[in-house]
Amino acid sequence: MNIILLGPPGAGKGTQARRLVEERGMVQLSTGDMLRDARTSGTEMGTKVAAIMDAGQLVTDEIVIGLIEEKIRSGNPAGFIFDGFPRTLKQADALAELLSRNGAQLEAVIEMQVDDTALVKRITGRFTCGNCGEVYHDETKPTKVAGKCDECGSSDLKRRADDNEDSLKTRLMEYYKKTSPLIGYYYAKGDLRPVDGLASPDNVADQIVKALAL
Ligand code: AP5
Repeated sequence: MNIILLGPPGAGKGTQARRLVEERGMVQLSTGDMLRDARTSGTEMGTKVAAIMDAGQLVTDEIVIGLIEEKIRSGNPAGFIFDGFPRTLKQADALAELLSRNGAQLEAVIEMQVDDTALVKRITGRFTCGNCGEVYHDETKPTKVAGKCDECGSSDLKRRADDNEDSLKTRLMEYYKKTSPLIGYYYAKGDLRPVDGLASPDNVADQIVKALAL
C-alpha cells in the first residue's frame, strides 16, 4: 500500500509515519529527512539547498523528484509512506508517473488538518533525537529523563534550523500557495482521506487506520 501524508509543517506527518513504519513495516520516504541527510553529509546538492531550507522555501521540483525516483525504483513490498512529498502539482504528476512506471499505484492521501495557531506551538517546541529520529515536544512530549532520548538513550537531542517563527511564516506561505492545491487535486481523484490532526497522536493514528480500511 502506497500512501501520502499531506499537511502543513507541524501537522504530525513525521510522527504518524514513524508509527506506520513500526506497525505495518511500511517504508517512510521523507524528502525533508533526505535533504537534511544530504546537508549533513556535505554533498554538493546538500550545500546548495541548505539556505533555501533554512529560509523555509521549497527546493526545486527536479531535486526532490530525483531523490524519490531512486527510492521508488528500489521498491518495497509493504509500500511507501510519502511524508512531505509531493508538495507541488508538478511533483504530484511525477509521483503518479513514477509509481505507474514501477507497476505500483497510490492507495490513499491522508490529509492532516491542523489550524495555524497549533502549528506554531508544535513547531517552536519540537526537538528530535539525532541518533534514532524520535520526535519530542517541550510541553506535549518531553523526554522522561531530561536530555536523554527515551528510545535509544542518546543525548544528541536537536532542534531544526528552520523551526523558528520567521521560517515558519515562509513555510506556511509556501504550503498555502504551492501545496494546498493538492487537496483539490487528490479529492478529484477520489484519493483524499481527511483526518483531524488536532486530536491526540493515538487518536490520529486510529483515524488513519480507519481511513486506510476504506
Ligand atoms: P519537512 O522536513 O518535510 O518539514 P515540514 O513539512 O515542514 O514538516 P515537519 O517535519 O516540520 O512537520 P511534521 O508534519 O512532520 O510534524 P511532526 O510529526 O514532526 O521539510 C523541511 C524543508 O525541506 C521544507 O521547508 C523544504 O525546504 C524542504 N522540502 C522537503 N520536502 C520538499 C519537497 N517535496 N519539495 C520541496 N522542498 C521540500 O510534529 C511536529 C511537533 O508536533 C512534534 O514536536 C510532535 O511531537 C508534535 N505532535 C505531532 N502530532 C501531535 C498531535 N497529534 N498532538 C500534539 N502534538 C503533536
